[in-house]
Amino acid sequence: MKVLGIETSCDDTGVALYDTERGLRAHALHSQTEVHRAYGGVVPELASRDHIRRVLPLVRRVLAQAECALCDLDAIAYTAGPGLAGALLVGASIACGLARALQIPAIGVHHLEGHLLSPMLASPRPQFPFVALLVSGGHTQLIEVAAVGHYRLLGETLDDAAGEAFDKTAKLLGLGYPGGPALARLAEGGTSGRFRLPRPMLASGDLNFSFSGLKTAALLLARAQGNDEGARADIARAFEEAVVEVLVEKSTQAVLATGHGQLVVAGGVGANRRLREVLNQRAREAGFRVFYPPVELCTDNGAMIAYAGAMHRAQAMPASGYRYTVFPRWDLALPGPEATRSRRRTARSTARH
Ligand code: KG4
Ligand code: ZN
Repeated sequence: MKVLGIETSCDDTGVALYDTERGLRAHALHSQTEVHRAYGGVVPELASRDHIRRVLPLVRRVLAQAECALCDLDAIAYTAGPGLAGALLVGASIACGLARALQIPAIGVHHLEGHLLSPMLASPRPQFPFVALLVSGGHTQLIEVAAVGHYRLLGETLDDAAGEAFDKTAKLLGLGYPGGPALARLAEGGTSGRFRLPRPMLASGDLNFSFSGLKTAALLLARAQGNDEGARADIARAFEEAVVEVLVEKSTQAVLATGHGQLVVAGGVGANRRLREVLNQRAREAGFRVFYPPVELCTDNGAMIAYAGAMHRAQAMPASGYRYTVFPRWDLALPGPEATRSRRRTARSTARH
């Protein structure tokens, strides 16, 4: 079965072709970094317009690379949410229009489902069930994945996502957009241990996160250091170490608590080198396995959407029809009772202090 995947939820246009018999046949990506750089962040209207220009040429390129004709396709998957409404509508309308013309199923996929299944495109691949750490610009979640379509939220950030904290901290350190990779590069040259930033919620007793205070602590530290250029790299290093320690600790707790013995890391922050190093070390000590998508599939891409769409078809999950709706906000997994209780507890304790 050959499934075309189209991703347009934010600032990357991704198209790919996944074949259930032969694996990933082709994938192509257009990054809008240059479109948004001057504004220091993603401008939704410009994102939508650029997706409109890029999707069809990318579809042609992917089909040519895969030596596949439109009429060979068995289904078309697209990101139906969460993301920017206008950007999502571009992918949804093109996918549903093409699918209707070809009389094949159109499949609306949850963007995070794409991310958390993306390590299946690497080798070796995890076996169900596993725990997924989703760390992107908009989400930081620990999810128990029992099978395709069976997701349980174990914990999540109460405020900023890890990628968002990377981006905001990069901005306050005077780094350009996109901030996460730039901050990681600056941190490489920083001295470990010169500064120490807090490890938010490390001992909260649940699997939730909080990163907005860490960003503020980095801001105060940067202000206190004034114009000391050398201090920027050391602050970046301290920030990265704090985020990585919290992500590694909570992920380890989640894997040990579920007893699944496998952790999948997905989303843009999963490309972070220090996170991978520290996590791999901890996994060796604690006796579990960690799986990552191929590095180029950590950030947004069409391959993960094509793969998720193919899995929906393989499980005989219903297609979406040609009348599309997009979901800018959309929960992938309903929280389990423990997560809900602990979130309420945290909210109460935040209100008290
Ligand atoms: O998954 P993704 O491409 O888009 C979303 O769905 O959000 O993730 C983008 C996020 C951005 O916040 C970006 O700064 C962060 O991933 N990121 C990184 C690195 N590469 C991307 N953060 C830290 N270190 C990196 N190497
Ligand atoms: Zn993403």
